[in-house]
Amino acid sequence: MSNPVDPVAYREKYGPWAVITGASDGTGAAYARQLAAMGLNLVLVARRLEPLQALAQELEKDHGITTRTASIDLYQPGAGEQVASAAMGLDVGLYISNAGADANSARFLDAPLDAWRGLISRNVFTVTELAYHFAATMRQRGRGGILLMSSGTALGGQPGVAVYCATKAFDLNLAEALWAELGPFGIDVLGAVCPAMDTPSLQSLLGANGLTVPGLFDPEDVVRTLLARLPDGPTHVFPFGPDAPRAAEIEKSRRERVAVMVEASKMFFRDP
Ligand SMILES: NC(=O)c1ccc[n+]([C@@H]2O[C@H](COP(=O)([O-])OP(=O)(O)OC[C@H]3O[C@@H](n4cnc5c(N)ncnc54)[C@H](OP(=O)(O)O)[C@@H]3O)[C@@H](O)[C@H]2O)c1
Repeated sequence: MSNPVDPVAYREKYGPWAVITGASDGTGAAYARQLAAMGLNLVLVARRLEPLQALAQELEKDHGITTRTASIDLYQPGAGEQVASAAMGLDVGLYISNAGADANSARFLDAPLDAWRGLISRNVFTVTELAYHFAATMRQRGRGGILLMSSGTALGGQPGVAVYCATKAFDLNLAEALWAELGPFGIDVLGAVCPAMDTPSLQSLLGANGLTVPGLFDPEDVVRTLLARLPDGPTHVFPFGPDAPRAAEIEKSRRERVAVMVEASKMFFRDP
């Protein structure tokens, strides 16, 4: 199925280059494939170079785009600068923060503190650094997009994923605030409250514990929905889990709250 978006308009607003973190499988690879099909050039980031390069070759051959691949560990301090270097000299119109899952499968005290430090480093520090870096150049050119992959776990504290859900709440609030701040400069920002999806990361976590989860979403469908939704932020909430019946209501109330705060913040900040 093709994307319900106009590829020419998409390239003009969000091209010619997009940066995708965690691009080698799951939703990251789905973003890469769907954006390549629309003719965007891609900077593909993950730790393992081999699958990234295989994907890059496939997309260059199938869609005639140009790619750069970079092996970077986003857990590490300084990862944001490394990604920025990998994209040096390119006109980046779209930043997709995709890598973000919690590979620990552990309750708070059952993993070493360093595991949580790494999760915070990747999902909070690296995401902030890259949003800051790419938003600055998008503001100069007056157009662009930022899509941050959050999670249903961001909507409330959840046992078993304490630090993960806290980082995802950070990403969601960051996206909503940036939507309001950067919108006037022509930058679209979307926070994605994602459902459980059939990705290699989730499957390997479930497989290691002999578990199955019914009703997993197809990553290709999720990505298609989010790419279409990017111009209309700040939040997209997929119906899944305990919040499923209220997904549309939650999305609407979060959007309305941001709109109220745009006005309320004028008490504290001058217009940009
Ligand atoms: N799957 C779900 O059910 C689900 C549910 C809600 C939200 N989400 C969100 O959706 C996004 C994608 O999730 P996903 O399930 O596809 O798994 P993921 O582990 O977040 O993404 C996998 C991709 O990220 C790369 N990656 C992981 N850690 C990295 C690191 N430290 N540095 C560089 N690259 C890294 C992996 O390649 P390498 O291993 O080679 O680095 C791979 O390309 C995440 O933000 C996640 O929080 C997922």
